[in-house]
Amino acid sequence: MITTLEAANPEPVRVRVPAKVNLALCVGPLGADGYHPLGTVFHALSLFDEVIAAPAAPGRVSVAVSGDSSSGVPADESNLAVRAARLLAEDFGRPDLGVALQLRKQIPVAGGMAGGSADAAAALLACSVLWDLDTTPDDLHALAARLGADVPFPLVGDNAIGRGRGDELVPLLSRGTYHWVLAFAEGGLSTPTVFRRFDELAADGRVSPDTSIPPQVAESLAKADAAGLGRALRNDLQAAALDLRPELGDTLAAGLAAGALGGIVSGSGPTCAFLAESESSAMDLSSHLAKLPQVAATRRATGPVPGARLL
Ligand code: C5P
Repeated sequence: MITTLEAANPEPVRVRVPAKVNLALCVGPLGADGYHPLGTVFHALSLFDEVIAAPAAPGRVSVAVSGDSSSGVPADESNLAVRAARLLAEDFGRPDLGVALQLRKQIPVAGGMAGGSADAAAALLACSVLWDLDTTPDDLHALAARLGADVPFPLVGDNAIGRGRGDELVPLLSRGTYHWVLAFAEGGLSTPTVFRRFDELAADGRVSPDTSIPPQVAESLAKADAAGLGRALRNDLQAAALDLRPELGDTLAAGLAAGALGGIVSGSGPTCAFLAESESSAMDLSSHLAKLPQVAATRRATGPVPGARLL
């Protein structure tokens, strides 16, 4: 006998989803809701996770994790991709739906590149196709924002200005392709911990909370001006991340001394992202940074790239 679920969609659904770097991350003062208002520019990079959603018994949601960056990812109900699948089923009033999720990870865990958020975004898309739900992009965006401030962006990708908690997105057009080198660190940094350190630095007057995005970021993107973009990169969480992990300052200094057009801590860190002039200078920079003792691995990537896509 063929069940409705099998008849509707017997094949697993595969979705590829990009990592992000914040070209600007401008952070306002802590609000009463426990969040900081942000002015940010997201930029999607060609470093991808893959989420595969396969049919499962009714009401059963499971997850298995594999890939370069899989250690430290919970394979239980706390996994953001599992929460995404559960939220989608619940929102459609369909607790009977089940899915076996598989995450193939390349985006570092707790690395400041929104890897968990990307997996949640991809799970929303994959499950909505697997379950044949009538979702619009706006539905997915609203569910994504309920899962976390960084979850909506990987659905759209490319470049976007984020306001509010970072989840109110406006697309930002750009010209050209930018060459990046990512320097991963051993171990992650917790986003709430970095925001808390930001609050301590603000209380001491060492950082000034301000959500204004430097106009040079959008201007450089519009002109394909990589050198201008390198100079304009800004991350208000960087001081907090460096305070918690001082060796990241050495990584940034080494990348700039080796010819990067600019370098910043990515999001809440500890990944450092460097903008290179060309593919060949990115290759040189990558091999230089890979030799540093505090750098666990390097990866080259280009941006911007589109958001979550069915494969
Ligand atoms: O949105 P998400 O749950 O991923 O954020 C994780 C944590 O990061 C929040 O609980 C909050 O402590 C901090 N955060 C913040 N302001 C933002 C986004 C995140 O303080 N705009």
